[in-house]
Amino acid sequence: MTEQKKTAVVTGSNRGLGYAISRKLAQISDICVIVTSRKESEGLAAKQQLVDEGLDVDFHSLDVTDDTSVQQFTEWLQATHGRVDILVNNAGVNPTSSHPEEASLLSVQSQTLLSTFETNVLAVLRIFQALIPLMKAQNYGRIVNVSTEMASLSSIPSDFYPLAPSYRLSKLGLNGLTAILAKELQGSNILVNAYSPGWLKTDMGGENAPFTAEEGAETAVYLATLPDGGSQGQFFAELRKLGEPIHLPW
Ligand SMILES: NC(=O)c1ccc[n+]([C@@H]2O[C@H](COP(=O)([O-])OP(=O)(O)OC[C@H]3O[C@@H](n4cnc5c(N)ncnc54)[C@H](OP(=O)(O)O)[C@@H]3O)[C@@H](O)[C@H]2O)c1
Repeated sequence: MTEQKKTAVVTGSNRGLGYAISRKLAQISDICVIVTSRKESEGLAAKQQLVDEGLDVDFHSLDVTDDTSVQQFTEWLQATHGRVDILVNNAGVNPTSSHPEEASLLSVQSQTLLSTFETNVLAVLRIFQALIPLMKAQNYGRIVNVSTEMASLSSIPSDFYPLAPSYRLSKLGLNGLTAILAKELQGSNILVNAYSPGWLKTDMGGENAPFTAEEGAETAVYLATLPDGGSQGQFFAELRKLGEPIHLPW
């Protein structure tokens, strides 16, 4: 008897890191990946590229900041795949380079802070509330939250990173969601962890970044395929940089 394939949902997977994570997960033979995107044409194009590589990939539109979109996505997922085993919360925004006032905490605009939280924090909570009940129904789940080492409090004194107040505060919120959810899921076979993919050559990271999206996807795949009893509620650095999975301090 063959076991049913695992279903993996990756948010914001039409481009950048989300696309690279989708591709790497779909290369694992027992995983079907659901590519999601708020723009249907871009998501369908991403799905087609992966299908052309012979990978098992489906698509549905998903705007993580929109209640109706999340509800429609969840209903479609239940009706067509009937399960979700892996969730990668990748969709994110970073206002640092487009908003000069982000150079100082004293000039941050509340609207920028709020809209960054809307995507990087509240939307992740919305997705948790929609999809974790499906994981609970089968007592299996692997949740990967894409954070940044800039949101490790110990990184803040370093001159290596931009100040990036709204982005950093939002990813601190995401790390908080990770720790609180892990506490709530204690004793279950649903594991939630956060990781930093490193500075990547994507639209967000820019062309001067040292690493590719494919390299940044490695730790996501590691956390998405943790064995039963694996890490719960931890924050990881990218594997590539340190050669093995290393915990980052919150
Ligand atoms: N690049 C880096 O150096 C770096 C470093 C550390 C952490 N990260 C994190 O890695 C993740 C991916 O970053 P990236 O570099 O791949 O960025 P990116 O190239 O800017 O891609 C961001 C993705 O998020 C999607 N997205 C944004 N808002 C969304 C929404 N409301 N609903 C659905 N999707 C939404 C975008 O969709 P659209 O195409 O529709 O805009 C896009 O697919 C982010 O969480 C980021 O904070 C990146």
